[in-house]
Amino acid sequence: MSKYNIAVIPGDGTGPEVVAEAVKVLKALQDDNLKFEFTFFDFGGDRYLKTGEVLPDSAIEDLKKFDAILLGAIGHPDVKPGILEKGILLRLRFELDQYINLRPIKLYEGVETPLKDKGPEDIDFVVVRENTEGLYAGAGGFLRKGTKNEVAIQESINTYMGVERCLRFAFEYTKKRNKDKKLLLCGKTNVLTYAFDLWNRVFNELAENYPDVKTEYGHVDAVCMWMVKNPENFDVIVTDNMFGDIITDLGAMIQGGMGIAAGGNINPEGVSMFEPIGGSAPKYAGKGMINPLAAIMAAEMMLRNFGEENYANRIEKSVMKVIKDHLKSLSAGKMGYTTEEVGDLVVKYL
Ligand code: IPM
Ligand code: MN
Repeated sequence: MSKYNIAVIPGDGTGPEVVAEAVKVLKALQDDNLKFEFTFFDFGGDRYLKTGEVLPDSAIEDLKKFDAILLGAIGHPDVKPGILEKGILLRLRFELDQYINLRPIKLYEGVETPLKDKGPEDIDFVVVRENTEGLYAGAGGFLRKGTKNEVAIQESINTYMGVERCLRFAFEYTKKRNKDKKLLLCGKTNVLTYAFDLWNRVFNELAENYPDVKTEYGHVDAVCMWMVKNPENFDVIVTDNMFGDIITDLGAMIQGGMGIAAGGNINPEGVSMFEPIGGSAPKYAGKGMINPLAAIMAAEMMLRNFGEENYANRIEKSVMKVIKDHLKSLSAGKMGYTTEEVGDLVVKYL
């Protein structure tokens, strides 16, 4: 019997509604071989507005005791942008050393993609985004702030250690995924001649240990073009933090939008955190209009990460059936069902 202790951070906006459905699905999966215990944490905008505290110092140590974290959404209309994102989401990613951001881009049958003439057989790839360095590291500062002579510097930090472990994960993942066994490094070696020189060198160095993985390279601008024109060419894409952030929003759109897109912040040696990648969508909060499938797919990714492939497959198959046989659209308010009803349907087909 496997028992998993899950920390749940519902967060802001529609976060609590979608997380409730993911927890409902996980509870429904429980049997003699699989058990979950859920512990809820109230981190988010409301707590910050009430107490002035973004994340208590004890949070990191507390969260380290769990098998995984399930996160709803972070972002509150009454809190200045950056405070909660940096203070909660990025802090957790950094301090729990979740150095991989894994984002599957998969178009399910019956889902509308904005790409003309592309179907589920064309859109099925994974982005491995570095998650602790690059432009996100917070290196830089101001000089003469607020004057006409102001200088603002934001530096991209790329360490050999950080780049190597991310690339190694990507090679291993490509091998294990066993689709086309093709790994593409997405960078900008023609302009960012220091950062991506390092990425490129380590990429080629590691490639020698993976003779069965085909390697390719693409500049990030061209990768955006191909994601729209020839998404069928991709198997696994590995890239830095900022480029990964940008191309995975594009990826979410071609797989049918934020209603389905999920991601994992993974520390392969520690505690990982899974989330629907759409934001807190405050305008839909509390209305039962938001699509919970992305949060449910985040739970699916969590189970896959535990190695519970069979249970993960049951969630994925059920989600596919709900999409194909029931939902009119994946967009908030257009599904033909409420948030709770969609969760109930997923449970029904488990
Ligand atoms: C994401 C989000 C975050 C990021 C924001 C909310 C800080 O856009 O998970 O992609 O930029 O990483
Ligand atoms: Mn993003």
